[in-house]
Amino acid sequence: MYASMPKVANSNRLIDLRSDTVTRPSAGMREAMANAEVGDDVFGDDPTVSALEERVADLLGKEEGVFVSSGTQSNLTALLSHCGRGDEYIGGTEYHIPKMEAGGAAVLGGISPRHLPLNEKGGLNAADVEAAIQDDDPHYAVSKLVCVENTFNGMVMDQGEIQRTAAVAHANDMKLHIDGARLMNAVVKSGTPASDLVACADTVSFCLSKGLGAPVGSVLCGPKQFIYRARRARKMLGGGLRQAGVLAACGLYALQHNVDRLAEDHANAHAMALRLAEFPGLNIDVSTVHTNMIWIDVSGEGQGPLSDHMLSRGMIVPEPGGANRTTRLVAHLDFETADIDAVVDGFASWLGAAQ
Ligand SMILES: Cc1ncc(COP(=O)(O)O)c(C=O)c1O
Repeated sequence: MYASMPKVANSNRLIDLRSDTVTRPSAGMREAMANAEVGDDVFGDDPTVSALEERVADLLGKEEGVFVSSGTQSNLTALLSHCGRGDEYIGGTEYHIPKMEAGGAAVLGGISPRHLPLNEKGGLNAADVEAAIQDDDPHYAVSKLVCVENTFNGMVMDQGEIQRTAAVAHANDMKLHIDGARLMNAVVKSGTPASDLVACADTVSFCLSKGLGAPVGSVLCGPKQFIYRARRARKMLGGGLRQAGVLAACGLYALQHNVDRLAEDHANAHAMALRLAEFPGLNIDVSTVHTNMIWIDVSGEGQGPLSDHMLSRGMIVPEPGGANRTTRLVAHLDFETADIDAVVDGFASWLGAAQ
């Protein structure tokens, strides 16, 4: 996906469909930053950071939270706090942690990855996880942690399967970590409170910089003793920030103003997927568009590179890549319902399709 991601020097006035991470802080969010009360958070003095950590921990029904700079840092901090060198974590081949985080757990933590294929719903099967757990044998790394992702590729995961996976982990003296970079999309789509969705997990990574529209920041949540260890891991990773309240203020603002509106992103993605699916050159399984992401396998030839064509019409779209020539469109805070027509027209003209 990233190799095919166009880089655009000034994307301000373009319709940017690459990700929900491309949003810019709104005027209200910038005002909240300007007015944030701050202190040195490495000394635990920043009231705005502390308020955000408490707010997210409460939301997720966990004892404590720690503010970190990114989802990647949050997941790595979690892995380093759960596992030591020579331990292993079990996750899905297509998950963000093994695929998109530069192998940080292995490189920096000596933690061995064990990746399992995902089922058709995008999740791990609890039975596969159980089968993958290593016996206590000197040949094997020590299985310590299971990681799952919700949402995954914009899909809300099967809660029953996550609960069974947690039960398997706990029965084998392991922990369950949820990469909840887009957990609130799952909450809004399913109507289930966040604390229920993650009740069976030991730790959760929660991002503010995806659909929630903050420029920076994630909160890693879990038990008090775990968060104590996580603060050391965060420091080791260079993630101890000083007057970080200016950033945490964005997170608090996002939680207050930008959660319910995720439903608009979901509606926009769904409406756009239905229209694009009508083109014979685009293969879209609309039933997988649960939240804000549309995955398209491009079977039509099109006229030249898709991303160049769309850019010439004021839109940024990843170039289709991989065996199925797949691209992804993501709806977000800075994408409006009125933009759907431009996207559909752009694909139509690229495919040379009559509308
Ligand atoms: C599921 C998932 N987890 C983690 C991350 C990492 O977040 P960040 O880009 O803030 O490091 C992402 C980024 O898009 C993600 O999609």
